[in-house]
Parts: sequence; C-alpha cells; structure tokens
Amino acid sequence: MPTNQTIHFALLGLGKLGSGFYKVWQQRKDKFFEKSGYNINLKKILIKHPEFTRPSFIDKSLLTDNPMDIINDEQINIIIDTTGGIEPIFSVIRQMICSGKHLISANRMLLAAKMHEISNLANKHKIYIMPEPSLGGGIPIISTLQKDLISNKITSVIGIMSGTSNYILTHMSEKNISFEDVLKTKKIQKLGETLSFVDYEGSDAAQKISILAAAAFGIDINFLHLYAEGISKVTHVDIKYAAEFGYEIKLLAIIREHPGNFEVRVHPTLVPKHHPINAIKSEYNAYYIKTDLLGEYMILGKGVGIDATNSLIIRDLLGLAEKIVYSDFNIDFNPTWNLKPVLPIQELESSYYVRIPCSDKPGVIGKITSIFGRYNINISSAHADTAKDMPIHTGNVHIFMNNACEKNLHRAIKYISKLDLIINDIKFFRILEMEDEVS
Ligand SMILES: NC(=O)c1ccc[n+]([C@@H]2O[C@H](COP(=O)([O-])OP(=O)(O)OC[C@H]3O[C@@H](n4cnc5c(N)ncnc54)[C@H](OP(=O)(O)O)[C@@H]3O)[C@@H](O)[C@H]2O)c1
Repeated sequence: MPTNQTIHFALLGLGKLGSGFYKVWQQRKDKFFEKSGYNINLKKILIKHPEFTRPSFIDKSLLTDNPMDIINDEQINIIIDTTGGIEPIFSVIRQMICSGKHLISANRMLLAAKMHEISNLANKHKIYIMPEPSLGGGIPIISTLQKDLISNKITSVIGIMSGTSNYILTHMSEKNISFEDVLKTKKIQKLGETLSFVDYEGSDAAQKISILAAAAFGIDINFLHLYAEGISKVTHVDIKYAAEFGYEIKLLAIIREHPGNFEVRVHPTLVPKHHPINAIKSEYNAYYIKTDLLGEYMILGKGVGIDATNSLIIRDLLGLAEKIVYSDFNIDFNPTWNLKPVLPIQELESSYYVRIPCSDKPGVIGKITSIFGRYNINISSAHADTAKDMPIHTGNVHIFMNNACEKNLHRAIKYISKLDLIINDIKFFRILEMEDEVS
C-alpha cells in the first residue's frame, strides 16, 4: 500500500454544489486516507467574487479568484468543476487540461456545448475527463454502460433524466391538477437547481442526454441540434386519456442504435402501463437499458440534489487519485467518436397516438382515417367519444398507429386540421416502441 503520497486537487466554484462538496469532503477525507494510505488534499478553490461572504466552515486561505494560481501549480493533478456556463470558465479549463490536470465536471452547460473539443483536448494531453456528475444526480449510468456492461452491445437507453419534469408529471397525474398548479407548489420550487423553463422545456434533459450520448456511445451531437420537447404543453386531459387507453405520460430521453444511424431525442411519451419505467415517480430518475447479453436492465436513483451529485464527484476523485498513485492510465476511457449520423426527427418511424377534437357526426372516423391512409399511415385502432367537457355535438377521435413516419404524420395532421369538422388543435404523442417493452 502506498504511503506518504499526497495527491492535490483544486475545486472550481464554491456555490451550492461546491460548498456542499467541501462540507462532505471535510467530514469523510480521513476515512479515505485510512482506507487508501495516501492523502488527497484540497489545495485551492477558485471563486469569482472574492468580496462575497463564505460559510464559516470554509478555510479562507484556500480561496483564489486567479485561475493562474491553479494552472501554474504543478502539484495540482485534478480539478473539480462546480461552476456554471461556458465562458469564461471554458478558457480556464482548456488551460488546465493543457497543463495536464484531470477534470471531474458537474458543469452541464459547458460539457453539453463543448464535449467534442474538451474530449479531443483531453486525449491529446492524456488526461481523463469524468463527466458523470454533470448529469445532475447520483446514478452511475456512464460507468454502468462503459464498465459493467462492457461485454454487451447496448441497443437502447431510455432515460427519465429530468427529476423536475418527472415530479410535475407525477403530481399532475396523481392529484389531477394542471401543470401551472404544480409549479406553484413549495416542493417544486426547492427541487429545480434554478427552477426555470430549462428544467421542464426539455433543454435540461437534452443537455444531459447529449453528454451521455457522447460519453457512452461516442455520438457527437451538440444539445442544441437534437430534438427536445418538454412537458409544458402536456395537460391533465392528455394524462386522463392516456390512462384510459392504458398508458402513462413520461418525459423520456431516448438513445437507440440502428445499423446506419442513432436516434437521440427527448419528448413526452406514452408509456404502456406495465412498463417498469412507469414505476419511477416524483423527482427520481432512471435508465432502462436493453443489451444483447443481459437483456433488460434498469437503474434508478435521485435525479437531482447536491448530495447525490457529490456522491459521484467523490467517487471520481478517489478513482483518479488511485490511478495517479498507481500510474494506471488507459486513455481510451474518453469518448472515441462514432461517425454514424443522428436520425433527424422528421425521418423517425414510430408508433403514435393522435387526438382530434371534432364535430360528433356519422362518418367522421372514416373520413379522418382515409386521410391518414393517403399519407401511407396504417391505423392500428380508432375510437370516438363525446367528451363531457366539450360543447354539445362535439367529441374526440383517438387514433393509434404503428410504424408511421413522422414526416408523413405532420403532413396528414396539417391536412386534417383544415377540415371544417375540426374544432380545436390536434394533439399527438409518440408511443414507446414495442421493442422497448418488456418481453
Ligand atoms: N446544485 C446542484 O444540485 C447541481 C447538481 C449537478 C450539477 N450542477 C451543476 O454544477 C454547477 C454549479 O451549480 P450550483 O448550483 O452550485 O451554482 P451556484 O450556486 O451558482 O455556484 C456557482 C459557483 O461557481 C463560481 N463561478 C462561476 N463562474 C466562475 C468563474 N468564471 N470563475 C470562478 N468561479 C466561478 C461562483 O463563484 P462566486 O461564488 O464567487 O460567485 C459560484 O461559487 C452548474 O453547472 C450546475 O449545472 C449543480
């Protein structure tokens, strides 16, 4: 067992996450020293505003607002990024990587936008980047895919990656209240890091899935270029009808590999009631993975929270320190890029549910289904009802279809929405593919 060795690291940022890390690290570092026999020392903390008052438990002698104090310190081998945003921190991190420092990052925005550049730079300078804490929870999904399932071919990963969105959908469904009413509750205000449209409009999940896609599959996609739709347009009427037809609505992040391309997308999805991912309620996150050898596998855990994120940061810190002590480096760990393209959403073939509010007249279903037929869309079932909350002589036509092309669906909906019998906006949801259901 190595003794008398000290591995030095620096913390970038001392906000909610950074100071949470500091506190847990102070409490636990001696235990890690006892177990490992080497010392892991926090040498410096980078902050932006030296004039801010810091919590009393922080050792103020570690603070600096000058990144060069860390960049030029050759003893510091590891940096933990708990700042936010892209610039100016990207320029700082770039210099740190070039000076040979390994990176553990919780900075989701930066990794989602610059993963390609950071990975390539990291490979060039033979350093590790550990992006898992940026996914915003404690679930070790990247390491599960890269290490535990290394002998498997991963065919799909279906994730609930936004704890805030899952909380909102769960409460809309269980309490039969609107999206806006859930947003007013005290608990939801506490859940979001900074509760904003980013949390529930899909871009939070899009950032996370772009990092996961890069780290675990080598898919090179900027989160701004992938299809991401949030939950703000989901109503409790949608949830009620979904339940009547045997589904729940979940905000799913989907990565699926095909021979010629990848699907990477985020959107509200109808999930068959018996599917295990429907068991994930409130702020919990989960990943439902399909592989060739293991079959189906699901991991779940807290999707938001400082302690949950610090669980991964500390794991990565200990892992990197051990690698440095034992000079155990295998740089292939960073993404190597897969050149297969990501399928544009318009080219997607999926199952869909479409709800068409229309006049309640004989022959309506036939008229609507014949239009879908013209656009090469096969209907698997069609139902009509007279909704109680709609004006007299009006109702809904509900259509289910398999293997429809999204482009054709949009064209058919555009055509149908111009018919005289349509009385309100037509809504559609993608349905979780049969191949992702439990066999
Ligand atoms: N909070 C969570 O539960 C959580 C979970 C997972 C991931 N994350 C990610 O972790 C990051 C931090 O989140 P947070 O909630 O802790 O945010 P926060 O409370 O706003 O803290 C940000 C910290 O970064 C420092 N900072 C920002 N820009 C800097 C710069 N250019 N140079 C030096 N320091 C800089 C700030 O310094 P000053 O204090 O001097 O202003 C502050 O201490 C974000 O990227 C977030 O997405 C957060």
